Amino acid sequence: MNVLLIGSGGREHALAWKIAQSPNCTRLYCAPGNPGMLNMPERMGRAGAVSQGFAPVSQIALNDQAAIVDFCGEQAIDLVVVGPEQPLVEGLANLLRAHGIPVFGHEQAAAELEGSKAFAKAIMADAQVPTAAYGAFDDAEAAKAFIRQHGAPIVVKADGLAAGKGVVVAETLDQALAAVDRLHKPGEQLVVEAFLSGEEASYFVLVDGESVMAFGSAQDHKRVGDGDTGENTGGMGAYTPAPIVTQERERLILETIAKPIARTMAARGCPLTGVLFIGLMIDETKPSADQIQVLEFNVRFGDPECQVLMLRLESDILPVLQAVAEGRLAEAETPRWSADSAITVIMANQGYPGSYEKGSEIRGLEDCPALVFHAGTVESEAGAIQAVGGRVLAVSARAPSLAEAQAQAYTGCKAIDWPQGFYRRDIGWRALTS
Ligand code: AMP
Ligand code: GLY
Repeated sequence: MNVLLIGSGGREHALAWKIAQSPNCTRLYCAPGNPGMLNMPERMGRAGAVSQGFAPVSQIALNDQAAIVDFCGEQAIDLVVVGPEQPLVEGLANLLRAHGIPVFGHEQAAAELEGSKAFAKAIMADAQVPTAAYGAFDDAEAAKAFIRQHGAPIVVKADGLAAGKGVVVAETLDQALAAVDRLHKPGEQLVVEAFLSGEEASYFVLVDGESVMAFGSAQDHKRVGDGDTGENTGGMGAYTPAPIVTQERERLILETIAKPIARTMAARGCPLTGVLFIGLMIDETKPSADQIQVLEFNVRFGDPECQVLMLRLESDILPVLQAVAEGRLAEAETPRWSADSAITVIMANQGYPGSYEKGSEIRGLEDCPALVFHAGTVESEAGAIQAVGGRVLAVSARAPSLAEAQAQAYTGCKAIDWPQGFYRRDIGWRALTS
């Protein structure tokens, strides 16, 4: 079967690597893709040599829906897999389905679960899913009055997609009031919610209408600096599984969060058809019935959580993606996961998450002993790999223990010759010290 994967980040490179290994995959195309996908065996480190290898990239832009539909016709695409949220929020899945093209990815109305925080909170209330108490406001003054009434710490969130910059966890009243001024846009809502303490974890399910399939847990590292210090980023590293998501908690997440959300979305006429990423806060100091709360939903895989999930997934990914796209998830075989742990360490451009230079050269990828997923890279005319994004490489490993996987990933980072890059030295610390 011919597959078109939409996206260009580390998450999509990991999906491409996994899809390319499927015996059911005839051709895999990526749009707009990245240089890692274009030549996987050479650009993913020594471990990449075992991968199938080559996914032609097409220069089609993420938001060029008409060009994507045309490409599907020209290349006889049997399945489109959409990586990022933006094309889903813009209605790409609706258009593809209208053309009879199977797609793993939610339609526009369902993507609002990530596209609008106020919508997500309303759905959670409807589905009786545990989440922080909140208010949603059109008006900045009303939001401030609510904040003064409840006091700090408190959390202020812009309603729409904000590339990770739309949430302020305010420790003081002044910070919260300033956040309202900064985040409020005329015509858009603000969500203000109670501060939750605990440990964050990411949990993934595949959903097709009311059918839900567990797809694993992971933990990300959002802060830029060691010891979880400094600014928030898109994620500096991740591992799977997350020890805090015990079997019993997994059962609770499925029964009290994932299934009620899927049912409620279907009942509202906006069924989910893709992956649901549940951002959780788990507070072990509370009674067990109150420990798990939802922070947010995303309608895509996490980045870098996807990289580690793909490393640990043993069974073929294509049949489940296809089952979701064709509304047959209930009949699909349960995925098989390795008992190993997997970890990924993000190498980022110096200055990230602030401004950074573009165009520095990365060497040594061919000999890297770990598996390297590309994110913000381009290939120069002379064939050099250059860093142009904030998060640039996801250096990844899988091993029987998390400690071994961590050691392998860091050996991989050291083998990459890129003086302008940096990475956290403590990815995995929480699981390794608990
Ligand atoms: P969100 O995009 O809603 O997940 O928020 C981004 C980050 O802000 C989360 O990953 C948490 O670290 C933090 N956060 C969001 N909501 C809360 C909350 N109610 N209490 C504490 N931290 C929060
Ligand atoms: N790693 C967090 C995210 O993808 O939103």
